[in-house]
Amino acid sequence: MSAAPERRTRGRTSPSRLRALDAYLLHCERPLLERQDGPWGEAAFLDVGFGEHPWTTLESARGFRELNPALRVIGVEADPARAAAAASHEGERTHFRQGGFGWAREAGQPVRLVRAMNILRQYRPEEAAAAHGELGQALLPGGLLVEGSTDGPGGITVAYLLRREAGGLRREALLFHTDFHQGFAPLLFRDWLPVDWRRRMAPGSALHAFFAAWTAAWIEARAHGANTPAESFHQGARRLSQAWPGVSEEPWLWENGYLRWQPPAGVPRPGEPIA
Ligand SMILES: C[S@@+](CC[C@H](N)C(=O)[O-])C[C@H]1O[C@@H](n2cnc3c(N)ncnc32)[C@H](O)[C@@H]1O
Repeated sequence: MSAAPERRTRGRTSPSRLRALDAYLLHCERPLLERQDGPWGEAAFLDVGFGEHPWTTLESARGFRELNPALRVIGVEADPARAAAAASHEGERTHFRQGGFGWAREAGQPVRLVRAMNILRQYRPEEAAAAHGELGQALLPGGLLVEGSTDGPGGITVAYLLRREAGGLRREALLFHTDFHQGFAPLLFRDWLPVDWRRRMAPGSALHAFFAAWTAAWIEARAHGANTPAESFHQGARRLSQAWPGVSEEPWLWENGYLRWQPPAGVPRPGEPIA
Protein backbone atom coordinates (compact mmCIF):
# COMPACT_ATOMS: atom_id res chain seq x y z
CA MET A 1 0.00 0.00 0.00
CA SER A 2 1.16 3.52 -0.76
CA ALA A 3 2.56 5.30 2.32
CA ALA A 4 0.86 8.55 1.23
CA PRO A 5 -2.45 7.65 -0.43
CA GLU A 6 -3.34 9.38 -3.67
CA ARG A 7 -6.33 11.68 -3.44
CA ARG A 8 -8.48 13.90 -5.62
CA THR A 9 -7.32 17.47 -5.34
CA ARG A 10 -7.56 20.62 -7.37
CA GLY A 11 -5.02 20.63 -10.14
CA ARG A 12 -4.41 24.35 -10.32
CA THR A 13 -1.20 25.32 -12.08
CA SER A 14 -0.05 28.12 -14.37
CA PRO A 15 2.54 28.55 -17.10
CA SER A 16 6.00 29.46 -15.78
CA ARG A 17 4.97 28.94 -12.16
CA LEU A 18 8.11 26.87 -11.57
CA ARG A 19 10.50 29.05 -13.62
CA ALA A 20 12.58 30.02 -10.56
CA LEU A 21 13.21 26.37 -9.73
CA ASP A 22 14.10 25.62 -13.35
CA ALA A 23 16.63 28.47 -13.33
CA TYR A 24 18.06 27.30 -10.01
CA LEU A 25 18.45 23.70 -11.19
CA LEU A 26 20.01 24.76 -14.50
CA HIS A 27 22.54 26.89 -12.64
CA CYS A 28 23.28 24.76 -9.57
CA GLU A 29 22.57 21.17 -10.66
CA ARG A 30 24.14 21.12 -14.10
CA PRO A 31 26.14 17.88 -13.53
CA LEU A 32 22.98 16.13 -12.28
CA LEU A 33 21.04 17.18 -15.39
CA GLU A 34 23.86 16.38 -17.82
CA ARG A 35 25.19 13.06 -16.51
CA GLN A 36 25.09 10.18 -19.03
CA ASP A 37 27.37 7.43 -17.68
CA GLY A 38 25.93 3.96 -16.94
CA PRO A 39 22.32 4.06 -15.66
CA TRP A 40 22.29 7.87 -15.89
CA GLY A 41 21.77 7.64 -19.66
CA GLU A 42 18.19 6.47 -19.06
CA ALA A 43 17.63 8.32 -15.78
CA ALA A 44 14.56 10.54 -16.09
CA PHE A 45 13.37 13.86 -14.78
CA LEU A 46 10.10 12.94 -13.07
CA ASP A 47 7.48 15.64 -12.47
CA VAL A 48 4.99 14.27 -9.95
CA GLY A 49 1.54 15.89 -9.78
CA PHE A 50 1.81 18.17 -12.83
CA GLY A 51 -1.82 19.27 -12.45
CA GLU A 52 -4.62 20.15 -14.87
CA HIS A 53 -2.23 20.98 -17.69
CA PRO A 54 1.35 19.77 -18.19
CA TRP A 55 2.68 23.30 -18.77
CA THR A 56 5.40 23.26 -16.13
CA THR A 57 6.60 19.78 -17.15
CA LEU A 58 6.96 20.87 -20.78
CA GLU A 59 8.72 24.11 -19.84
CA SER A 60 11.23 22.25 -17.67
CA ALA A 61 11.75 19.67 -20.42
CA ARG A 62 12.64 22.46 -22.85
CA GLY A 63 15.03 24.09 -20.37
CA PHE A 64 16.76 20.94 -19.14
CA ARG A 65 17.20 19.61 -22.68
CA GLU A 66 19.36 22.61 -23.48
CA LEU A 67 21.90 20.82 -21.25
CA ASN A 68 20.86 17.26 -22.04
CA PRO A 69 19.00 16.89 -25.36
CA ALA A 70 18.35 13.17 -24.76
CA LEU A 71 16.79 13.68 -21.32
CA ARG A 72 13.78 11.45 -20.64
CA VAL A 73 10.94 13.45 -19.06
CA ILE A 74 7.96 11.81 -17.36
CA GLY A 75 4.96 13.60 -15.88
CA VAL A 76 2.96 11.57 -13.38
CA GLU A 77 -0.54 12.47 -12.18
CA ALA A 78 -2.85 10.74 -9.73
CA ASP A 79 -5.89 12.07 -11.60
CA PRO A 80 -6.60 9.79 -14.61
CA ALA A 81 -8.38 12.50 -16.65
CA ARG A 82 -5.42 14.90 -16.25
CA ALA A 83 -2.94 12.15 -17.22
CA ALA A 84 -5.04 11.24 -20.30
CA ALA A 85 -5.44 14.88 -21.38
CA ALA A 86 -1.67 15.38 -21.26
CA ALA A 87 -1.06 12.49 -23.68
CA SER A 88 -1.44 14.81 -26.69
CA HIS A 89 1.82 16.49 -25.55
CA GLU A 90 3.85 13.27 -25.58
CA GLY A 91 6.97 13.02 -27.69
CA GLU A 92 9.74 10.52 -28.27
CA ARG A 93 11.25 11.13 -24.83
CA THR A 94 8.35 12.92 -23.10
CA HIS A 95 5.67 10.78 -21.44
CA PHE A 96 2.67 11.31 -19.20
CA ARG A 97 1.42 8.55 -16.93
CA GLN A 98 -1.28 8.07 -14.35
CA GLY A 99 0.25 7.13 -11.01
CA GLY A 100 1.32 8.12 -7.54
CA PHE A 101 4.48 8.84 -5.57
CA GLY A 102 5.78 5.30 -6.14
CA TRP A 103 5.25 5.24 -9.92
CA ALA A 104 8.93 5.19 -10.93
CA ARG A 105 9.87 2.37 -8.55
CA GLU A 106 6.87 0.31 -9.69
CA ALA A 107 7.80 0.96 -13.36
CA GLY A 108 11.50 0.20 -12.80
CA GLN A 109 12.37 3.65 -14.15
CA PRO A 110 15.66 5.11 -12.82
CA VAL A 111 15.39 8.79 -11.96
CA ARG A 112 17.90 11.64 -11.57
CA LEU A 113 15.51 14.37 -10.45
CA VAL A 114 12.05 14.18 -8.90
CA ARG A 115 9.99 17.34 -8.61
CA ALA A 116 6.83 17.41 -6.49
CA MET A 117 5.71 21.03 -6.29
CA ASN A 118 2.47 22.25 -4.77
CA ILE A 119 1.39 18.71 -3.92
CA LEU A 120 2.01 18.09 -0.22
CA ARG A 121 0.23 21.30 0.79
CA GLN A 122 -2.89 19.21 0.35
CA TYR A 123 -1.59 16.48 2.68
CA ARG A 124 -1.28 16.35 6.47
CA PRO A 125 2.05 17.43 8.02
CA GLU A 126 2.61 13.98 9.50
CA GLU A 127 2.39 12.43 5.99
CA ALA A 128 5.39 14.39 4.68
CA ALA A 129 8.19 12.04 5.79
CA ALA A 130 6.56 8.94 4.23
CA ALA A 131 5.78 10.88 1.04
CA HIS A 132 9.43 12.01 0.76
CA GLY A 133 10.61 8.42 1.26
CA GLU A 134 8.31 7.13 -1.46
CA LEU A 135 9.06 9.96 -3.91
CA GLY A 136 12.81 9.38 -3.48
CA GLN A 137 12.87 5.61 -3.90
CA ALA A 138 13.77 5.46 -7.61
CA LEU A 139 16.48 8.16 -7.44
CA LEU A 140 19.98 7.05 -8.39
CA PRO A 141 22.62 7.75 -5.72
CA GLY A 142 23.27 11.50 -5.87
CA GLY A 143 19.82 12.15 -7.36
CA LEU A 144 17.67 14.97 -6.04
CA LEU A 145 14.09 15.30 -4.77
CA VAL A 146 12.70 18.85 -4.88
CA GLU A 147 9.49 19.20 -2.86
CA GLY A 148 7.82 22.41 -1.86
CA SER A 149 5.34 25.18 -2.58
CA THR A 150 4.98 28.38 -4.55
CA ASP A 151 2.39 31.13 -4.66
CA GLY A 152 0.03 31.11 -7.67
CA PRO A 153 2.19 33.11 -10.11
CA GLY A 154 5.42 31.44 -8.90
CA GLY A 155 7.00 34.61 -7.52
CA ILE A 156 7.57 33.05 -4.08
CA THR A 157 9.05 29.55 -3.72
CA VAL A 158 10.18 27.45 -0.78
CA ALA A 159 11.46 23.92 -1.41
CA TYR A 160 13.25 21.08 0.27
CA LEU A 161 16.30 19.75 -1.57
CA LEU A 162 16.62 16.09 -0.51
CA ARG A 163 19.59 14.11 -1.84
CA ARG A 164 19.68 10.34 -2.36
CA GLU A 165 22.55 8.73 -0.50
CA ALA A 166 23.43 5.13 0.31
CA GLY A 167 21.55 5.27 3.62
CA GLY A 168 18.44 7.06 2.30
CA LEU A 169 17.48 10.68 1.67
CA ARG A 170 19.69 13.40 3.17
CA ARG A 171 17.79 16.56 4.13
CA GLU A 172 20.34 18.67 2.29
CA ALA A 173 18.82 22.15 2.14
CA LEU A 174 15.86 24.49 2.17
CA LEU A 175 15.72 26.80 -0.83
CA PHE A 176 13.95 30.17 -0.71
CA HIS A 177 13.27 32.38 -3.72
CA THR A 178 11.34 35.53 -4.43
CA ASP A 179 11.05 37.84 -7.42
CA PHE A 180 10.11 40.69 -5.03
CA HIS A 181 6.65 41.24 -6.52
CA GLN A 182 5.37 41.51 -2.94
CA GLY A 183 8.36 43.49 -1.66
CA PHE A 184 10.53 41.64 0.81
CA ALA A 185 10.75 40.59 4.45
CA PRO A 186 11.97 37.12 5.50
CA LEU A 187 8.58 36.23 6.97
CA LEU A 188 7.12 36.53 3.46
CA PHE A 189 8.11 32.87 3.13
CA ARG A 190 6.21 31.64 6.18
CA ASP A 191 2.98 30.76 4.30
CA TRP A 192 4.93 28.79 1.69
CA LEU A 193 6.97 26.61 4.02
CA PRO A 194 6.88 22.84 3.43
CA VAL A 195 3.77 21.24 4.91
CA ASP A 196 5.61 19.62 7.83
CA TRP A 197 6.87 23.04 9.01
CA ARG A 198 3.90 25.24 8.20
CA ARG A 199 2.11 26.36 11.38
CA ARG A 200 4.78 24.55 13.44
CA MET A 201 7.33 27.36 13.56
CA ALA A 202 6.90 27.80 17.31
CA PRO A 203 9.38 29.78 19.44
CA GLY A 204 12.17 27.40 20.43
CA SER A 205 12.03 25.52 17.11
CA ALA A 206 15.03 25.46 14.78
CA LEU A 207 13.18 27.22 11.98
CA HIS A 208 11.90 29.94 14.31
CA ALA A 209 15.50 30.62 15.36
CA PHE A 210 16.63 30.70 11.72
CA PHE A 211 13.92 33.21 10.75
CA ALA A 212 14.70 35.35 13.84
CA ALA A 213 18.36 35.52 12.74
CA TRP A 214 17.39 36.25 9.12
CA THR A 215 14.98 39.02 10.22
CA ALA A 216 17.66 40.60 12.45
CA ALA A 217 20.17 40.51 9.56
CA TRP A 218 17.61 42.05 7.18
CA ILE A 219 16.75 44.85 9.67
CA GLU A 220 20.48 45.62 10.04
CA ALA A 221 20.89 45.70 6.25
CA ARG A 222 18.06 48.24 5.96
CA ALA A 223 19.54 50.33 8.78
CA HIS A 224 22.79 50.39 6.77
CA GLY A 225 21.14 51.78 3.65
CA ALA A 226 19.76 48.78 1.75
CA ASN A 227 16.62 50.49 0.47
CA THR A 228 14.99 48.38 -2.21
CA PRO A 229 13.54 44.90 -1.54
CA ALA A 230 16.27 43.34 -3.72
CA GLU A 231 19.07 45.22 -1.92
CA SER A 232 17.72 44.40 1.53
CA PHE A 233 17.41 40.72 0.52
CA HIS A 234 20.95 40.61 -0.85
CA GLN A 235 22.63 42.51 1.99
CA GLY A 236 20.53 40.72 4.62
CA ALA A 237 21.53 37.34 3.16
CA ARG A 238 25.21 38.37 3.26
CA ARG A 239 24.94 39.39 6.93
CA LEU A 240 23.00 36.22 7.78
CA SER A 241 25.68 34.05 6.16
CA GLN A 242 28.24 35.55 8.56
CA ALA A 243 26.06 34.85 11.60
CA TRP A 244 24.33 31.55 10.85
CA PRO A 245 25.88 28.25 9.72
CA GLY A 246 24.93 26.75 6.37
CA VAL A 247 23.76 29.82 4.42
CA SER A 248 25.27 29.40 0.93
CA GLU A 249 27.42 32.37 -0.06
CA GLU A 250 27.29 32.02 -3.83
CA PRO A 251 26.75 35.54 -5.27
CA TRP A 252 24.54 34.25 -8.12
CA LEU A 253 21.99 33.06 -5.56
CA TRP A 254 21.68 36.38 -3.72
CA GLU A 255 21.75 38.47 -6.91
CA ASN A 256 18.82 36.48 -8.26
CA GLY A 257 16.62 36.35 -5.15
CA TYR A 258 17.64 32.90 -3.84
CA LEU A 259 18.75 31.91 -0.36
CA ARG A 260 19.84 28.31 0.24
CA TRP A 261 20.13 27.15 3.84
CA GLN A 262 22.18 23.98 4.00
CA PRO A 263 22.66 23.18 7.72
CA PRO A 264 25.70 20.94 8.29
CA ALA A 265 23.55 18.39 10.18
CA GLY A 266 20.74 18.54 7.60
CA VAL A 267 17.50 20.52 7.60
CA PRO A 268 15.92 19.96 11.03
CA ARG A 269 12.50 18.41 11.38
CA PRO A 270 9.81 20.07 13.49
CA GLY A 271 10.39 19.09 17.09
CA GLU A 272 14.12 18.47 16.61
CA PRO A 273 16.40 20.56 18.84
CA ILE A 274 18.48 23.33 17.27
CA ALA A 275 21.76 21.67 16.17
C1 LIG B 1 -1.93 22.01 -7.29
S1 LIG B 1 -1.54 20.81 -8.54
C2 LIG B 1 0.17 21.22 -8.79
C3 LIG B 1 0.54 21.33 -10.24
C4 LIG B 1 2.00 21.69 -10.52
N1 LIG B 1 2.93 20.73 -9.95
C5 LIG B 1 2.34 23.09 -10.07
O1 LIG B 1 3.20 23.25 -9.19
O2 LIG B 1 1.76 24.05 -10.59
C6 LIG B 1 -1.41 19.30 -7.56
C7 LIG B 1 -1.59 18.02 -8.38
O3 LIG B 1 -1.01 16.93 -7.66
C8 LIG B 1 -1.77 15.77 -7.94
N2 LIG B 1 -1.49 14.78 -6.88
C9 LIG B 1 -1.86 14.80 -5.58
N3 LIG B 1 -1.40 13.71 -4.93
C10 LIG B 1 -0.72 12.99 -5.85
C11 LIG B 1 -0.01 11.74 -5.81
N4 LIG B 1 0.07 11.04 -4.67
N5 LIG B 1 0.57 11.30 -6.94
C12 LIG B 1 0.49 12.02 -8.11
N6 LIG B 1 -0.17 13.18 -8.21
C13 LIG B 1 -0.75 13.67 -7.10
C14 LIG B 1 -3.20 16.27 -7.96
O4 LIG B 1 -4.03 15.40 -8.69
C15 LIG B 1 -3.05 17.66 -8.60
O5 LIG B 1 -3.31 17.60 -10.00
